[in-house]
Amino acid sequence: MSQRPRIVGYAIVSREGMIANSDGSFPDELKIPADQQFYQDSLASAAAVANGRHSAEGGPREGARKRIVLSRRVHRIVHHPENPNAILWNPATAPFDEAWQKLGLPEGEARPTLAVVGGTDVFGLFLTLGYDAFFLTRARASVPRGRPVFPGVGLGLPPDEPLRKHGLVLKGSRILDPATDTVLEEWGPAS
Ligand SMILES: NC(=O)c1ccc[n+]([C@@H]2O[C@H](COP(=O)([O-])OP(=O)(O)OC[C@H]3O[C@@H](n4cnc5c(N)ncnc54)[C@H](OP(=O)(O)O)[C@@H]3O)[C@@H](O)[C@H]2O)c1
Repeated sequence: MSQRPRIVGYAIVSREGMIANSDGSFPDELKIPADQQFYQDSLASAAAVANGRHSAEGGPREGARKRIVLSRRVHRIVHHPENPNAILWNPATAPFDEAWQKLGLPEGEARPTLAVVGGTDVFGLFLTLGYDAFFLTRARASVPRGRPVFPGVGLGLPPDEPLRKHGLVLKGSRILDPATDTVLEEWGPAS
């Protein structure tokens, strides 16, 4: 049995806390090369990725990564019909630990990392399972309406409020891209 992973979230948000436009497309305003680089470098060291059906990370390594794809279209945890490295998991019908074991990662000494990459409901679900870290990239650009990083964000609720509510605190921040004043924040458990 592979041990329970470190659960680490990655999101880039607009000033208002949006991760996507209302039609589900990725906003040009959030395409910031320094963030893309940080994101892809981070995923390179993860053991597996978890995402909703429309939020895989892209890039040349996507198909090679072990992956949990969340879907309400399945009841049992099943192998992905098109991707041998992926399983389909409906969290309403099976616990996370079962999905994690079904991935079949080799046992190792180091604790593996599961990178959680959205979208909205997936980020929200893992709040309740517990993040060991959440990397929140804040762009200055405005995407006033659309899909929020967590359910409820944008309706007067700032993007970091759900993190605080679930016991995470700001551990540090740094400028990722001075030209656009894009800031990367790392959130983690208080203790
Ligand atoms: N800015 C960022 O950091 C960031 C991060 C992630 C995504 N995005 C962008 O957001 C857009 C995609 O958003 P999206 O709202 O379509 O999100 P999504 O989470 O990629 O896809 C939604 C689908 O995932 C499945 N799903 C999600 N939550 C689930 C849950 N709790 N239980 C079971 N299944 C679940 C469902 O699939 P079924 O229909 O199969 O049931 C649902 O229809 C894309 O443009 C993407 O690039 C941006």
